[in-house]
Amino acid sequence: MEQKKLIIGNWKSNPKTLKLAEKNSIEIDRLAKKNRTVRIAIAVPQPFIGLSKKTKNIHVGVQDVSSEGEGAFTGRATAEQLTSAGATFTIVGHSEMREYGDTNERVAQKIQQAAKAKLPFVLCVGEKKRDHDGDYLHTIHTQLTSALEKIGAAKKFLFAVAYEPVWAIGAHATAVATPKECLEVVIHIRRTLQDLFGNKIAQATPILYGGSVNAANASGFLTEGGAQGLLVGRDSLEVKTFSKIISIA
Ligand code: PGA
Repeated sequence: MEQKKLIIGNWKSNPKTLKLAEKNSIEIDRLAKKNRTVRIAIAVPQPFIGLSKKTKNIHVGVQDVSSEGEGAFTGRATAEQLTSAGATFTIVGHSEMREYGDTNERVAQKIQQAAKAKLPFVLCVGEKKRDHDGDYLHTIHTQLTSALEKIGAAKKFLFAVAYEPVWAIGAHATAVATPKECLEVVIHIRRTLQDLFGNKIAQATPILYGGSVNAANASGFLTEGGAQGLLVGRDSLEVKTFSKIISIA
């Protein structure tokens, strides 16, 4: 049977208030109740994680997790704290966190922490730029293997892998990826997962595309692009635009 598509909204540092976040998440929860053919998730700012208790039909997670356990780490929230506050997944390795200093090594530590707390994680990978020699495939391979090769039994907490070419993300995107570009990398990620964990896990792990996804291009990534889901930034912020993407999936 074909897997249900997984659509994750990455809210980043939005919206302005808890009240607005509550309104949006309740509306998305209602949408999810009506649409059982798609799995819907939102990655919210940490102060809003309690929304997971007000929703029943969606996954509510966070966008990052500490690379350390509890202790003297000002400003960081541990996987265990986030889980106990209601997070049902976390993103790790988002390019914006890599931009703030997350190395492949730190991403691997974050995954270890998430898995220790039984917190499912979405691993983001993606190259900064495309080159004609295929070096970007090498970059993605390194990001995947360095993050995943030592996780052992914790691999069962691998919720999804998201391919997000950095050049296609956010308001400063220089281009939007084509479904063909997406497909090449989806196949590459699947093969790497196969080498790491075998066929069963490689087939069962949803590979998502993210980077300027909107209602007009979503279907291309899910069909010709070979993605089993989407990680949506800007167009997940308004329930109306997010719901259009969900209905396409
Ligand atoms: P975008 O963000 O859809 O606004 O490009 C995607 C992301 O950063 O996850």
